[in-house]
Amino acid sequence: MYVCVCQAVTERQIHQAVRDGARTLKDLRRDLGVTSECGRCAGCARQCMKEAHGHHAPGGLMAHAACA
Ligand code: FES
Repeated sequence: MYVCVCQAVTERQIHQAVRDGARTLKDLRRDLGVTSECGRCAGCARQCMKEAHGHHAPGGLMAHAACA
């Protein structure tokens, strides 16, 4: 699923970036371009990072329904 439509960044790419060392939204912006245009993906990208770190939000995958 796309997290950042402007830069065509998927959830999978964000998880990979976290595995590669990204720790903040700023890291994701530098590595993938997330939030570099309209910025609407910020909340979802942050959620995605949390999941990648193993901190699942209440509602699990449903959290992403809000991002779609
Ligand atoms: S959706 Fe990510 S910058 Fe627009």
